[in-house]
Amino acid sequence: MNVLVTGGVGYIGSHTCVQMIEAGLNPILLDNLHNSKLAVLERIEKLTGKKPTFYQGDIRDKAFLASVFEKEKVDAVIHFAGLKAVGESVEKPLEYYDNNVNGTLVLVDAMRDAGVHSLIFSSSATVYGDPASVPIREDFPTSATNPYGRSKLMVEECLTDFQKANPDWSITLLRYFNPVGSHKSGEMGEDPQGIPNNLMPFISQVAVGRREFLSVFGDDYPTCDGSGVRDYIHVVDLAEGHLAALDKVGKKAGLHIYNLGTGDGKSVLEMVAAFSEACGKDIAYQIAPRRPGDIAECWADPAKAQQDLGWKATHTLNDMVEDTWRWQSKNPQGY
Ligand code: NAD
Ligand code: WQD
Repeated sequence: MNVLVTGGVGYIGSHTCVQMIEAGLNPILLDNLHNSKLAVLERIEKLTGKKPTFYQGDIRDKAFLASVFEKEKVDAVIHFAGLKAVGESVEKPLEYYDNNVNGTLVLVDAMRDAGVHSLIFSSSATVYGDPASVPIREDFPTSATNPYGRSKLMVEECLTDFQKANPDWSITLLRYFNPVGSHKSGEMGEDPQGIPNNLMPFISQVAVGRREFLSVFGDDYPTCDGSGVRDYIHVVDLAEGHLAALDKVGKKAGLHIYNLGTGDGKSVLEMVAAFSEACGKDIAYQIAPRRPGDIAECWADPAKAQQDLGWKATHTLNDMVEDTWRWQSKNPQGY
């Protein structure tokens, strides 16, 4: 099976490509390298023995997409490409709507021209806004609190309308919770440019000596220890979720929506303690004010994915922190 993977050189895309190759699928990577490096392709080859086909270009470039669809016989598309930094999206909303919303529309248009009718889209738990309760089910109301989240919600709505008008298409919206971790080899992992926005890469950069201390954003939330609680999911489990979706619903016409999370919440301070244990050092931290827009707690009810896709996360918190530390300590400056 040939699968076009937009954003395939990025963090989640690259891990998904490795799992795909190991499962005997043929990923065709497409990326503009805005937030990723070519070195990733060598790591994929080192891990799998296969050099993946790669096209460098932009999903907003219709002629480029048409040329890729003409060269390759594509059975399905997994669409990871996009911008993902919440803070940056507040500063640059136009760029976010152009990349994430317009980019997806151009991609779907090119798929239609090429007769490819199976799409898996990277959505996010951010579409649940500030949920009324946890765990979060797929039928909870959606809302957005920032331009990044709104771009994901807009794409979900566009794809929902499009699927209704084109009932022979299979469109799957996968709502990821908090992806963390790395390939167990330590050869691939998350390599944020500049100061990390997300918790796990920040902790691991403190551990490796690139940052002095972690700011814990808030210790007065109504949670177990006052710090924010999230559903951290190992990136390899997430990758496997895409394979399960391709297999179970990728050929089934309809709109399919799944949470990809573990169903378990961990606090910031629990993450710090677990990482400290894995790397054998104290992680320096200071309590700081709450980050604007943050919510107290967010975790998934992953039952629907287990029932329909036969998928469930199997990596433990220990796997997440150990694998992250292996990657960060082997690659202190990233790729
Ligand atoms: P990433 O930045 O590592 O990967 C995205 C890739 O897309 C990058 O390689 C980038 O160069 C590429 N890209 C961006 N714009 C492009 C364009 N216009 N044309 C072609 N390529 C383009 O991010 P990631 O963490 O791997 O996230 C993948 C997807 O999952 C994104 O859509 C993101 O919004 C979504 N998501 C991520 C998280 C998370 O916390 N990492 C959580 C929920 C959802
Ligand atoms: C996790 C927890 C912070 C950094 C974001 C996006 C979401 C999705 C995943 C893409 C929170 C705390 C963090 C730090 C801290 N991305 N924290 N110090 O905010 O749950 O979700 O990434 O779709 O859309 O909003 O993830 O990793 O930023 O934060 O205390 O330096 O860690 O307050 O409680 P978040 P995160």
